[in-house]
Amino acid sequence: MHPVRIAIAGTGMIGAVHADAARRAGATIVGVSASTPERAKAAAERLGVARSFASSEELVTAEDVDVVHICTPNASHGPLTRLALAAGKHVVCEKPLSVDAADADELAALAEASGLVTAVPFVYRYHAMAAEARHRVRSGAIGDVRLIHGHYLQDWLSQATDDNWRVDPVAGGASRAFADIGSHWCDLVEWVTGHRITELAANVQTVLPERTPPGADRHAVATEDAVQVLLRTDRGAAGSVVISQVSPGRKNRLWFEVDGAEHSVSFDQENPETLTLGGRERTEILIRDPAALSPEAARLSPVPAGHPLGYRDCFATFVADVYDAVRRAGAADAPAEALYPTFADAARTARITEAVLRSAATRTWMEVH
Ligand SMILES: NC(=O)c1ccc[n+]([C@@H]2O[C@H](COP(=O)([O-])OP(=O)(O)OC[C@H]3O[C@@H](n4cnc5c(N)ncnc54)[C@H](O)[C@@H]3O)[C@@H](O)[C@H]2O)c1
Repeated sequence: MHPVRIAIAGTGMIGAVHADAARRAGATIVGVSASTPERAKAAAERLGVARSFASSEELVTAEDVDVVHICTPNASHGPLTRLALAAGKHVVCEKPLSVDAADADELAALAEASGLVTAVPFVYRYHAMAAEARHRVRSGAIGDVRLIHGHYLQDWLSQATDDNWRVDPVAGGASRAFADIGSHWCDLVEWVTGHRITELAANVQTVLPERTPPGADRHAVATEDAVQVLLRTDRGAAGSVVISQVSPGRKNRLWFEVDGAEHSVSFDQENPETLTLGGRERTEILIRDPAALSPEAARLSPVPAGHPLGYRDCFATFVADVYDAVRRAGAADAPAEALYPTFADAARTARITEAVLRSAATRTWMEVH
């Protein structure tokens, strides 16, 4: 069997991470695309890839490609994914799967009907200690879950001179902070707890109504910088989350805590080698040591304790899982349930995002389906 042949549309920050993960998983990178053919050529050279595609549309339908990775700005995800599925490609699409929740649902349905492997990189699930938190919650070790709370804070858009395509709803979608990072938090806590967020009340803030990037004109801002959400789950828990891209000093602080009747677990993705286990009598800091972890967390610990793992390692294991599913697609031993986040998971976060914006606009609680 030939190595999995892949191509990457979009070679910015995350495209390069996908390329690294693909190589670590033993795939052949056939080619890349960028916003122009010239930029694609430069990117191919930079990443050591033989071919550059003239457009992303050409890339996602190329005959000699098995899996396409869509790493372009958000608004192009839906159209490129639709093209790729129609061409029979397995797809790894960056979040959000679509900037429109109904469209994301349609793409998830198309993916399901196609039998193709489709995945979205909610890669924080691949931190061993997040998987250990999941084990502790789902095994009942912490007792009945009462509270789920946390935050996801960044500071890279905290100044009026900071700007990015994500700020523009045409390229990024109607939601910015929540779609960009709130989606990760929701995916992670639902995966850890098995609870589903069924109702929420949200407040959104645009603290910088105008931005003036260096050398460019001042422009108005129509997407949110920060969000506060109260939530209830299908299994009787409640909680809250603060999402922000304007919190000075916070770089990529995804933190959650699950409070059970007996114990709590809390995880900080900036310090992913530990998990805090709270108890009334004693609170412990559990160190990532494969010998002491649940089997699923140990699987995500390919090196011994004291040899730190990080974001790129999560990505590499995620991509390896996806390619494994591609190799086994249609085979009798293909696992019934995907280990990796699927289009169905991504469609769910798109529905949560839509509920957040609607709740904030109407100042009411919204149901999430
Ligand atoms: N899963 C994660 O942890 C994670 C992390 C970062 C970004 N992302 C997602 O990845 C996507 C890209 O984000 P980024 O941080 O890499 O942004 P980026 O700005 O660094 O890169 C985007 C690149 O796409 C290029 N581009 C624009 N239009 C294109 C087109 N039609 N075809 C090909 N390339 C095109 C741009 O020139 C740029 O180089 C976003 O959707 C974002 O939500 C996910």
